[in-house]
Amino acid sequence: MPKQINPSNIAIVGMEWGDEGKGKIVDFLAEKADVVARFNGGNNAGHTIEVDDKKIVLHLIPSGVMHKNKFNVVGNGLVVDPRVLLHEIEFLEKNKIKVSPDNLAISENAHVILPHHIEEDKKVGGAIGTTARGIGPAYTDKAARIGLKVYEFVDDAIFRKRFGEEEFYQEYKEYANELKQYVGDTSAIMNNSIDRNKKVIFEGAQGTLLDIDHGTYPFVTSSNATAGGVCTGLGISPKKVQGVLGVCKAYKTRVGLGPFPTEITGAVGEKIQKIGKEFGATTGRQRRVGWFDALIGKYAVMINGIDSIALTKLDVLTTVEKLKICVAYKHKGSIIKNFTTNMKVLQNCQPVYEELDGWWDDITKVRTYDKLPNNAKKYLRRIEELLGVPISIVSVGPRREQTIVARNEFLF
Ligand code: GDP
Ligand code: IMO
Ligand code: MG
Repeated sequence: MPKQINPSNIAIVGMEWGDEGKGKIVDFLAEKADVVARFNGGNNAGHTIEVDDKKIVLHLIPSGVMHKNKFNVVGNGLVVDPRVLLHEIEFLEKNKIKVSPDNLAISENAHVILPHHIEEDKKVGGAIGTTARGIGPAYTDKAARIGLKVYEFVDDAIFRKRFGEEEFYQEYKEYANELKQYVGDTSAIMNNSIDRNKKVIFEGAQGTLLDIDHGTYPFVTSSNATAGGVCTGLGISPKKVQGVLGVCKAYKTRVGLGPFPTEITGAVGEKIQKIGKEFGATTGRQRRVGWFDALIGKYAVMINGIDSIALTKLDVLTTVEKLKICVAYKHKGSIIKNFTTNMKVLQNCQPVYEELDGWWDDITKVRTYDKLPNNAKKYLRRIEELLGVPISIVSVGPRREQTIVARNEFLF
């Protein structure tokens, strides 16, 4: 299919194990958007946005909320913790960010996270290193067809019938009353907006390798974080998705357990971890750090149909003398060139590296591609070559303005 130039809607997805900087990129592009919609996950996500003197971490509400006059949608593909959502609304209002039914809608078909889901996750999630937010157990109930949908939650006759005897009922009934005003048919809203050529961003949570079908199972989350999730998670046809932007970190990180072939142990890893402030935005856990892995990159491009990449945290690599890029894996004497989700194979893979020279100049104030140091450009070009897609955005710091648009044709 020919690539759509300047699409009116773009899916923004993580290319690795989450925390690629999706929040920052969505916020940057949201300036030109009308609607920002989340399609998967729940408050396991932590999307950080830095504007003016504020640093805001969003867990459930789409990153479009940071701009005035953008409509935000929480799609049916999410699991919603009502207590967390109300706290988030309260927190935003304290920060002078307005939230009302004029700028937020929640799908009546999303599923609800209840206290027993969180308890269950705390008990069994340790084996994977989950965020313990009740995500897996809530999706389990959804798949087992015993879940509670948002429209049922806000209809007291139904909610009482199912959970009236539970200890949490009174407290949650109040939450339901407060949330009712936001609940609606978000598939209709989405299709309407798309059909009227509104500029829409589909904001992914987590990342390709945390996708329940295409990730490093069982070390994954319980939803589809890849571009396919846009359709099921918002109720729109694949024919309507016009563009896909992959968010990719200049090096790799992972929170939680599971194989990580390019993981760096020792001083360089610690340096990147420290400069990159690699601590989870949701749980505060230290993120594991690794070199750029072109196999993962190519895989994410294929699974999501990525048109172009937003490469984040390039600034963090400044002063790293030698930069490694993994171009193949060695597995039991043979060479593998494509990523695999077979854990038995992946956990026995050793990276084969190419080495590039680093750069020393501070790039956090650079705003045009041309002004980047030559070695930084070489690093970016090599990534483009290996992944076979262009880099459209280079991020050189956490703040909104620390963003370089390298090519415009795949963006709004
Ligand atoms: P998300 O879950 O994909 O939205 O990413 P997180 O917000 O969990 O983690 C990304 C972290 O990196 C946040 O603390 C961001 O403020 C920060 N960040 C994003 N882009 C950049 C960048 O280009 N440079 C630096 N130094 N930090 C960045
Ligand atoms: P954002 O949207 C990074 C990881 C957890 C764990 C696994 C399963 O901020 O990129 P879960 O609680 O979902 O059942 O945990 O998935 N995980 C994330 N890691 N960023 C996230 O979201 C994540 N959401 C879940 O650490 O390994
Ligand atoms: Mg995050």
